[in-house]
Amino acid sequence: MKSIKKCVFPVAGMGTRFLPATKANPKEMLPVVDKPLIQYAAEEAVSAGVDTLIFVTGRNKRSIEDHFDTAYEMERELEAKGKTAMLEILRGILPSHVNCVFIRQSEALGLGHAVLCAKPVVNNEPFAVILADDLINFSEKPCLTQMVEMFDYQHCSILGTQDVPKESVSSYGIVAGTEVRKGLMEVSGMVEKPAVKDAPSTTAVVGRYVLMPQIFEKLENTKRGAGGEIQLTDAIAALMQDQRILAYNFDGKRFDCGSKLGYLQAQVEFALEHDEVGKEFRAYLDSLSAEQMNKVVNMKKKK
Ligand code: G1P
Repeated sequence: MKSIKKCVFPVAGMGTRFLPATKANPKEMLPVVDKPLIQYAAEEAVSAGVDTLIFVTGRNKRSIEDHFDTAYEMERELEAKGKTAMLEILRGILPSHVNCVFIRQSEALGLGHAVLCAKPVVNNEPFAVILADDLINFSEKPCLTQMVEMFDYQHCSILGTQDVPKESVSSYGIVAGTEVRKGLMEVSGMVEKPAVKDAPSTTAVVGRYVLMPQIFEKLENTKRGAGGEIQLTDAIAALMQDQRILAYNFDGKRFDCGSKLGYLQAQVEFALEHDEVGKEFRAYLDSLSAEQMNKVVNMKKKK
């Protein structure tokens, strides 16, 4: 039996970095090629053995609920028209054994607070957290599967980490610690969005966590930290006083889809790999000769 059955998706954030696209639409519903970010995240959780998806939502997030619900009218119409391939896509968004739970985070008090909102559903068992705007792919095994396997072996909280450039440390939770073996570090310190000069390392937590349930007690006692928010990082740092915490440098490429550049990079790389459009898209990119690219730049300059 798989050890981690529940995964929390904090999706209440406003997504202001993507305005105006996110004025009426949640950022987690932005598509990469043809799938919204939240669906990639849900699929990653399900393939790691999770059967309960807990979405911590907020205002303007109804379309996330609709996305994981049955679309009767659309199904009926596709059925009537005999469009079976599309019907399969629609019906296959989640396997039937998977349940979705939606919890409303009524105040935007930060990531730590969002995770705490899931306590009544998670109860007293270890669980995963996925931040959908960190899109991770291009590894043999999905990121969360690697982390759950590590958890099954180590039986302690595991943080998914990657090395980031020094100048970006102030965008992340940064960990310090000692290497247990290649790619695995025992965490001895953790700080949320430090200034470059204060960062203990360049190892950043990038949107994947497997946490022991004692994190909830710590979250209940966590005061507002960086940015005036209740930070998950601070609660993990407190948990570290009682329990072993490991930082795991997983295999895979991560796209920061919370930023425009990262999102665009994901679009290009996922499109190149896409069964339906990959080949043509590659040919299209090849056809964009340097001369044509320069034309676009020159046209912009003239404006
Ligand atoms: C959150 C966490 C941070 C983590 C980051 C990963 O920050 O607070 O510790 O490194 O996600 O993407 P956010 O990007 O939501 O500000």
